Amino acid sequence: LSINRKDFLVNGVITFAGIGLGFSKPEILEQISSKKIIKDDGISVTDLAKDELYWRKISSLYQLTKDYFHFNHGAVSPQNSDVLNSFFEKYKFSNRGPGRQMWQILNQERESLREELAYLLGAEKEEIAINRNTTEGLANIIFGLDLKRGDEVVLSQYDYPFMVNMWKQREKRDGIKINWVELEFPEENVENIVSKYQNAISAKTKIVHLSHIMNWTGQILPVKEIIKMAHQKGCEVIVDGAHSVGHIDFNLKEMDCDYFATSLHKWLCAPFGTGVLYMKKEKIANIWALSSCYESQTNDIRKFEQIGTRSIPAEMAVKDAIDIHTEIGIKLKTERFQYLKNEIIARLEKIKGIVIYSSKKEEFGSGMVTFGLEQINNKELYVELFNKFKIHSSPVNIGYLNAVRVSPHLFTPISEIEYLCDSIKKIALNN
Ligand SMILES: Cc1ncc(COP(=O)(O)O)c(C=O)c1O
Repeated sequence: LSINRKDFLVNGVITFAGIGLGFSKPEILEQISSKKIIKDDGISVTDLAKDELYWRKISSLYQLTKDYFHFNHGAVSPQNSDVLNSFFEKYKFSNRGPGRQMWQILNQERESLREELAYLLGAEKEEIAINRNTTEGLANIIFGLDLKRGDEVVLSQYDYPFMVNMWKQREKRDGIKINWVELEFPEENVENIVSKYQNAISAKTKIVHLSHIMNWTGQILPVKEIIKMAHQKGCEVIVDGAHSVGHIDFNLKEMDCDYFATSLHKWLCAPFGTGVLYMKKEKIANIWALSSCYESQTNDIRKFEQIGTRSIPAEMAVKDAIDIHTEIGIKLKTERFQYLKNEIIARLEKIKGIVIYSSKKEEFGSGMVTFGLEQINNKELYVELFNKFKIHSSPVNIGYLNAVRVSPHLFTPISEIEYLCDSIKKIALNN
């Protein structure tokens, strides 16, 4: 294999030397995108996505325990050694005098990080707040919106429970009304999905709340189409993008949502407790900051960063996670996630009693696979997977779903996918 990490780093270093030559960071990031590297080496993204040797090299950068098999990266993902080292260095640096080292020196990198995140998401710098996670970002929106009694909000019971509960709290406190959208997994028809959301909108609906990738089944919603329809109906749209960054290719300008939040400790493999809140520039003044805000900040996205002391080393090591993400490239990452997902589904489909809730199609299915077995309930399945086969997965018990979710990461080898599916087959046969 002619591509290796060393080449990436050499390319990266050479290109980054360009900083002094007047390149802006975004231009540099484009130059080291996987497309260029792969083209130079004559290997297509499709072939590289299946190249186990390449992914074994990527895997060697992570320090996962070998005590069990890791199939719950959707909850939170590990950082690789570059990100960890950067984080530790910054942590040690900060501990030499936190008041100055952390707040005054390390924190000077905040604005360049904001710029990198804006580039990563396809947004403007002044639309990006750096925070701790999706929950915090969406809490600012859900509790910060001026809604009055009788105003309506559209969401699904399959949106993330914390957000559903926030909306239920507003229902109780403020008398807003929730209109629920019913979904059946996998949803694979854009028109149907859009009309489900459209049917839930009334003249009183102010907000549509969407999950870009739904955590229960890995379902990808056609957010662009729903947003277009919702805007035509006069609604604003909030997108829960917890699973989007580092996982699928998207651009916030094109998506055109009004509000978006994500967690960087999921598919981007950034330090734990790092996230982003985005909103269109013209919306910032309308949202009350949840924690605190200087009067002069009304129109300034930084008002959402008045959250007190947090880990600046974790935030600043996000830059290293972005570098590695860019080195691999979102096209290759997406291709790898699709490949692993489809390898799982192809094997599971052959098992008697299996019910699969995730889509094989790239448009509707992310890297996560959710399935149930008719022979056994999901809790027993989840427990058996761990106790008998040392497979860590995630139980799914909501609405009509009685299932288990498995979420490999880029570096999960095919041999582990085979082991996973053989184990599920054994459970199916023994029950
Ligand atoms: C769809 C979705 N939204 C929000 C969250 C919350 O993410 P965090 O705990 O990073 O705030 C998750 C976590 O798994 C999620 O799956």
